[in-house]
Amino acid sequence: MGTTEIRKVGVVGLGTMGAGIAQVCVQAGVETVGREISAELGEKAREKIAHFLGRAVEKERMTAKERDAALGRLALTTEIADFADCDLVIEAAFEDIAVKHELFEALDATVREDAILATNTSALSVTQIAAASRKPERVVGMHFFNPAPLMPLVEIVRAQRTSEEVVDAAYAFAQRVGKEPIRCNDTPGFVVNRILIPLLNDCVRVLDEAGVSVEDLDKAMRFGAGWPMGPTALLDLVGIDVHVHASEAIWSGLREPRMAPPPRLKAMADAGLLGRKTGRGFFEYDD
Ligand SMILES: NC(=O)c1ccc[n+]([C@@H]2O[C@H](COP(=O)([O-])OP(=O)(O)OC[C@H]3O[C@@H](n4cnc5c(N)ncnc54)[C@H](O)[C@@H]3O)[C@@H](O)[C@H]2O)c1
Repeated sequence: MGTTEIRKVGVVGLGTMGAGIAQVCVQAGVETVGREISAELGEKAREKIAHFLGRAVEKERMTAKERDAALGRLALTTEIADFADCDLVIEAAFEDIAVKHELFEALDATVREDAILATNTSALSVTQIAAASRKPERVVGMHFFNPAPLMPLVEIVRAQRTSEEVVDAAYAFAQRVGKEPIRCNDTPGFVVNRILIPLLNDCVRVLDEAGVSVEDLDKAMRFGAGWPMGPTALLDLVGIDVHVHASEAIWSGLREPRMAPPPRLKAMADAGLLGRKTGRGFFEYDD
């Protein structure tokens, strides 16, 4: 298991992450089948991918012929059964354990014995997701970052029962599609979120403690700590609701006070001030 060459990939869910992961795969020359819950949502995802590849052509980072070839590698479906001949399936569906369990049971019953099942979960336990498979050895975390086509890192997450062969195969695949993978254990937040989430929570707490403005906090971390982007601008980009959800998950796993989302962020999430996607978070956005 895990030694099969990965010729065909399945992506479950073509939302923000799934569409990005499918784009990464087809751009790297891999035949990919993407599954959405309706044909309309699948078509929307294809249009989104076509739009981003079109921009790459405009910027002369790829030719029109390469774009067409990449889009030609993407097949759409609404049926899990169409993953039967996939060597690797990457699940990027809604972050809910019941949804993931249902999908992994269906995938487990569909794919070949030697196929690898990966989850892109950020905050759930890969071990717990793998429990829905009769062969948890073949289940691994492949945690891409948003936006997947632009962010190089993929955390390859070794769950309790993942075989080393499967970890190695997922790692090699991430490298093959142009990413920079790392290996890590299945602990809350894995590596980046385990560090970044409490750090961003601290930044928000300092806003009130130090009586610093949002603009000055971002300026402080950009010009004093060399961050490419200020913490509140980053929270707006990630989505306040997404951050609060991830923060609560890490808090429930580790119970360290810094992991818990600050009340100020919870209030923003409740008020619909979610950042860029709602046009307003710490800052206001026109686009
Ligand atoms: N957004 C991020 O920054 C980010 C980063 C890394 C990992 N992730 C993880 O990626 C996964 C997807 O997140 P996203 O941000 O792309 O979400 P999204 O809301 O953009 O997409 C969710 C997908 O799940 C599908 N879906 C919804 N309900 C379903 C159901 N009942 N059964 C099957 N599919 C269903 C939707 O059709 C959609 O394709 C989550 O596990 C999330 O934790 C998200």
